[in-house]
Amino acid sequence: MANYSAWQYDEMQQIGKDYGNVAEVEAYDLRHNQFRNIQKESQFILDRLAVRKKQVILDFGAGTGTFAIEAAKRCSKVYAVDVSRVMLDYAKKKADSHGVDNIVFGHGGFLTYNHLEDPVDVIVTSLALHHLPDFWKFAALSRINTMLKNRGRLFLMDVVFSEENYVENITKWIADIERSAGPETAEDIRMHVQKEYSTFTWIMEALLARTGFRIDQSNYENGVIARYFCTKINNCT
Ligand SMILES: C[S@@+](CC[C@H](N)C(=O)[O-])C[C@H]1O[C@@H](n2cnc3c(N)ncnc32)[C@H](O)[C@@H]1O
Repeated sequence: MANYSAWQYDEMQQIGKDYGNVAEVEAYDLRHNQFRNIQKESQFILDRLAVRKKQVILDFGAGTGTFAIEAAKRCSKVYAVDVSRVMLDYAKKKADSHGVDNIVFGHGGFLTYNHLEDPVDVIVTSLALHHLPDFWKFAALSRINTMLKNRGRLFLMDVVFSEENYVENITKWIADIERSAGPETAEDIRMHVQKEYSTFTWIMEALLARTGFRIDQSNYENGVIARYFCTKINNCT
């Protein structure tokens, strides 16, 4: 695996939204469920990936753990990894309250988590990769490649901008969120665009291809949200 520790990006710093803040973490599910149905999203992803009982899944940027918990009910083990200890503590408590005991929680991130077990069958990451600048997204996807079995599946969902009409799309997105979830959440989206590192679809597609992934299916929602179902077809050095 590449060694760039001397000039490593600090992925533990909170850029934009502060997920090290207890109040933010406790409000997360309620706030996000105003504009997405995380439970339903999780079932959709697991169905599409045709997850089976003997499989192992790794969730990068697991947040409050909704996906990890749903995944754990359908497979043998889930690794839930996040840079925020507050998120991990919250997700652990939530898993306990669901009676789910096959999640291994790991403090770390795309660039620092060391997966010491066998490569997994499936890696999922939702609304987390945009925390890294593009150069580091490449490094992250290269590392993801090494943690995944040959022909293993990757699901990536994130804020990724389509090039066409990007100004109009972002403006409409913020206005829609303001209507459905209120001014505070709309402000979060403004801050996301200003301070976080969401990129363009053509860059994300190239990053996936160059790190050994075939995009089996992509979906672009309103020019601002991208979903990629991928298969690892080459090893990444
Ligand atoms: C917007 S939340 C997404 C949570 C969840 N995956 C979802 O779809 O609701 C982003 C999460 O990514 C985590 N995160 C930020 N930078 C990260 C990194 N470099 N590696 C892994 N996780 C990171 C944050 O702590 C936070 O829990």
